[in-house]
Formats: sequence, structure tokens, C-alpha cells
Amino acid sequence: MTVRTVDLDAEADLARCGALKDFWYVACLSTELPANRPLARTVFGTGLVLFRGPDGAPTALRDRCLHRNARLSKGDVFDGRLGCPYHGWVYDASGTVVEIPALGPPQRGEKLDAQACAHEGLKPAPCDVGRLARFPTREQDGLVYVYLGADVTQARAEPFRVPYWGERGWTVYFMVTRFANGVTNLVENFMDVPHTSFVHRGWFRNPTRKRVPSTVKRHAGRVRMTYHQEEDALTGLGRLFNPRGLPLVHTDEFIVPNVTRVDYQWGDSGFAINSQCTPIGPTDTLVYTAISYRLPVDMPGAWVGRALTPLVRWYTRQVIQQDVVIMETQRQGLTDGPGGGVYSGTEADLHHADIEAYRRWLREGAHGPGPEDAERDVVFWV
Ligand code: FES
Ligand SMILES: [Fe+2]
Repeated sequence: MTVRTVDLDAEADLARCGALKDFWYVACLSTELPANRPLARTVFGTGLVLFRGPDGAPTALRDRCLHRNARLSKGDVFDGRLGCPYHGWVYDASGTVVEIPALGPPQRGEKLDAQACAHEGLKPAPCDVGRLARFPTREQDGLVYVYLGADVTQARAEPFRVPYWGERGWTVYFMVTRFANGVTNLVENFMDVPHTSFVHRGWFRNPTRKRVPSTVKRHAGRVRMTYHQEEDALTGLGRLFNPRGLPLVHTDEFIVPNVTRVDYQWGDSGFAINSQCTPIGPTDTLVYTAISYRLPVDMPGAWVGRALTPLVRWYTRQVIQQDVVIMETQRQGLTDGPGGGVYSGTEADLHHADIEAYRRWLREGAHGPGPEDAERDVVFWV
């Protein structure tokens, strides 16, 4: 039997994803969650409704009314509470039913006592209905995180910190992109140099037939790729960052289970592209990309950097769109009949094999010590 490298179905299924669920995942940008509107999200195939409670803190509940199972995310938020669109049952931020309009001002059944209600399988009052499943949330660095594991005190890591968020001289903005592929394939794509001269030809990097000696380090849930190539031939906007021809420090890092960080640094300027993947379903993923950059020459308050944001945003949107297309193209081949998900690779794919090893270990329940630490030199060509 051939072993599949990725199992798209299992890795996005809450019941079968093992320890992949024991991490914080981005549910939305802070700006996507206003005070007066609910937001629907699906994470690991589980429908969630997000809204802000009376103190403004985000709440994530199961998006299914306890009454007749309507989608609560189609309802209303008022005074930090959530009203179902069907019969108006009201939930507070803990997921408890606090009001049932059909019970009028008494908020109790008037004719059937508790015993009669129990006999008919009914509840006498809102407080007897119980509460919706509620998932822990955290808001930091402009992102709202949600935790779907069994016990938040057992989370395997803290929510990821956005690189350079709030740091002087740096401009940070987010892009949200939906990809028709699974998380393993996406994180591989985000730290894959050889694809850039094919998929992003002319936009980011041209084929130069250059030999790139690199080091792949696998350590403590991270796969770090260091490229020993001081003059990389970036095209497009990449050229803005290095007018003085300083040596480049380029690293790519994967952080379990779903984060990648790409850094291009020349002196103390450069950019970082940080992507966090949130699985919706087997071939459906929302990716939250934070782009942080600092220009070599700028005015106080990163004025020039901020003024350039619309241009940089447009440029990065074009590049990401090229990845959306290639990820859909990969998905088509991968899911076309049986036998998909068996990969082959060369030395140029060592870091991908490391990512797959970590993610497979987590998916299988994270038993035992996991992939051992290793550091290896490789060479590939772009
Ligand atoms: S289904 Fe939600 S109030 Fe009836
Ligand atoms: Fe790409």
C-alpha cells in the first residue's frame, strides 16, 4: 500500500485531525467583527457565529440555534447579545438563552408546570434550555483567534504574534484570501522558492539559473529555511527595498501547525510575509496574510511606507491571486480520482517533507516525541 503524504479530509475534520485542533486559529480580522453584527465562520468543518459581547470582547458560539437549529449568524446583535432570526431567542455572550419572545413578559410557561413540561419533552423557562457550545477566543495584533480543542489550558502554543506589529517604522496590513486547497499544500506553497520563477514570473522573480545553497533546520515544531544567497534577483516592487545593494538575509519559516513567515531583510529594512491558514474544509481554507515592511528611507511615522500601502497592497494581491490559481490547479489534479496525495520529491523538497512530518505527527494525535531535530544543507536551482 502506498502511503499518502497528505490526507486532506482528515486534516480538516475536527473529529479526525488529532492534535491539529489543539492550537489557536485565526477566525477573522478585528475589523471584520463590528460591535453590532454577527459573523459566520467555518473552522474544521464546524459552523461558528462570532459577535462582540457587552464589553466588546469577541465570542464564538456554535452557529445553530438550540430551538429549531436556524443559523444564528443570520440574526442580530444588540447590547452584546445575539438574537436568532427565526423566533427571536436571545443568547448572551456565554451562549446561555436569556430570553424567549414567545413566553412573553413572564418568561415562563403559564399552563404547563415543570413536571408536565418534562413529560412532553419541553422546558419551562429560558434558563432551563441550556447553552450553546462556546469556543474560547483571543484578540491580539488585529486578529481574532478561536480555539476548538477540547481544553484550552492544554493549547500547544500561544496565538501567533504578527511580525513587527506596532513597531516603529514598520507598516503592517492584512489580506484575507480564500484558497481551494488544504492547509498542508498551502503552507508548502508559501515557503516554496522554486515555484516563484514559474507562477510569479516577472512579478516577483525571473528564472536566472542560479544555484541556491540553503540550510534546512527542523527544531521544536519549526522548519526554518535559510538561503545562502546574498544577491537575490527580485523583480517588481521587491527592488524598492534595496537601492543601496546591501546583502540579503532571506529566511522562510514554518511554525506548527499552520503558520509561515517569509523574511527578506537588507540592513534594517525589508519585509515579512506572515500567513496563517484556517481550515474550513478539506479543500477550502481562509488565509490571513500580514504584510509588514520597512523602507530603507522614510519620514517620521513611516509616512512614505504608509503612503505606499495602496500600491503594495495591489501588487501583493496580484501575486497572491497567482497562488490562488496554482493552488486550485494542484487541487484539481490531486482530487481527480483515487491515488491523489502520494507525493514525490527531491533534495529541493526536504523542508516540505519536514512540514509534512510535523503535520502528520499532529494529525495522528502527537503521540511520542515527534520528528527529531535535524539540520541539513541542500542545494536547489532557481
Ligand atoms: S430557531 Fe432560533 S429561535 Fe427558533
Ligand atoms: Fe507563490
